[in-house]
Amino acid sequence: MYPIWEVPHLTAGLVLALIATIHILPSHLSTSAMWLNVYLERKSLKENRPELMAFVKRFSKMILIFAYVFGSMTGVGIWFAATTAAPRGISGLIHNYVWGWATEWVFFLIEVGGIYVYYYTIDKVDPKTHLKLGWIFALASWTTMVIIVGILTFMLTPGHWAATGNFFDGFFNQTYWPQLLMRTTAMFAIAGAYAVAVAAGFGDLKARREIVRTASTWAIAGLALSSLAFLWYRAVLPDAALANLAALATPGLRAVMVWAPALAVAYFAVMAAKPSWARLVPALLAIGLIFSGIFSFERVRELIRKPFVIPGYMYSNQIIAGDLPAKGVQSELPEIDREGILHYAPFVPPDLRDVTDANRLRAGRMVALIECAACHTFQETGLRPLPPRIRKLGATGPGDVAEVLDALGAIPYMPQFAGTDAEKQALAAYLFSISK
Ligand code: HEC
Repeated sequence: MYPIWEVPHLTAGLVLALIATIHILPSHLSTSAMWLNVYLERKSLKENRPELMAFVKRFSKMILIFAYVFGSMTGVGIWFAATTAAPRGISGLIHNYVWGWATEWVFFLIEVGGIYVYYYTIDKVDPKTHLKLGWIFALASWTTMVIIVGILTFMLTPGHWAATGNFFDGFFNQTYWPQLLMRTTAMFAIAGAYAVAVAAGFGDLKARREIVRTASTWAIAGLALSSLAFLWYRAVLPDAALANLAALATPGLRAVMVWAPALAVAYFAVMAAKPSWARLVPALLAIGLIFSGIFSFERVRELIRKPFVIPGYMYSNQIIAGDLPAKGVQSELPEIDREGILHYAPFVPPDLRDVTDANRLRAGRMVALIECAACHTFQETGLRPLPPRIRKLGATGPGDVAEVLDALGAIPYMPQFAGTDAEKQALAAYLFSISK
């Protein structure tokens, strides 16, 4: 267990989610855009059309600056935020998937080096070699997705890993293929969307129209196929995840998931029919639509695995709640209930280890930080703030709150309370004190 990173009004998890959202824009661009480049570059070679290559050059420059500068910065940001927000969760993932990440980073290095090589060798090496460089880049960048999807889906459906502890049992789990298909097809939609934006300001009219038409067709096909893949994904979700989806996905979130891709398809249909209408601002809005769809999907993906970071194994508050015989790991719950969470967690001020009349509220706040702060805030407003929730339940004293705590484990998306009775009373006293 590690020190707690409390972020008032937001929670550390939301800070992580915000950085990750910004990261989605450049990272998905970097896996997708080169596919359109190699397509256009091939066409330019075969049909001897240098103006297409001029577009490829312009597009590559945008990828280089936007995807790699912002992508790298926010990528490092994700690691910083994730290791601080959920150090044990990350540790659990690294212990299982360190070779997965190592492999991903090999391909990522090819990708990062690749974009510079690709951009700066345009017109400098012979066209066939250059096209090969493009292919290497495109395949390497997609391979990073092939790998990371295994780790991402493992966090929702660890599959037989829970029984065997085997790398590939967790990696190729029941949601792996649908999610890989969903991201791969969405990736082509993203490439198309960016290409329309870049082509909108492109000088050569004939080439512009042709590129806008091709890119819009890619975007429509990508969006349609990824929506189908989403239905497949939903069909293989475990019951617990579906129950969470029903209970936690707000109407707003659902609406964005349906309307954002639908409106984007409508926009690209217009562009495919009337490519000369392409302008930068609407194209950027269409990119915004696609990303709000992706963002809602990522939010839902986070919501439906509650209360776990890794289902059946570790709660979002970092407590190990399930046995993993294959890894020699045991649930910590019995020991925490016996010893007390304030004894069990290492980063507790010494005067708060035992609950007394004098330190009750401070000890209660410490328990709240350890067990609830992963998903709740303690202010009046913000992400799932507890004071209004406690009030809504009509608690008239700490005793009522303690009863709520007893019932937490029965709510499917929340971890059960873990600790001694004295700690539960202290937590109840603290929660009541902030809810008055
Ligand atoms: C894994 C994340 C998670 C953790 C950890 C967590 N909760 Fe929750 N809690 C939720 C979610 C999700 C909801 C339902 C959505 C909402 O209320 O906004 C919820 C709702 C609640 C509610 C309102 C219940 C109702 O029926 O209206 C209370 C009270 C509550 N939590 C208390 C706690 C306390 C106390 C802790 C710490 C001991 C805790 N939660 C830890 C995720 C969590």
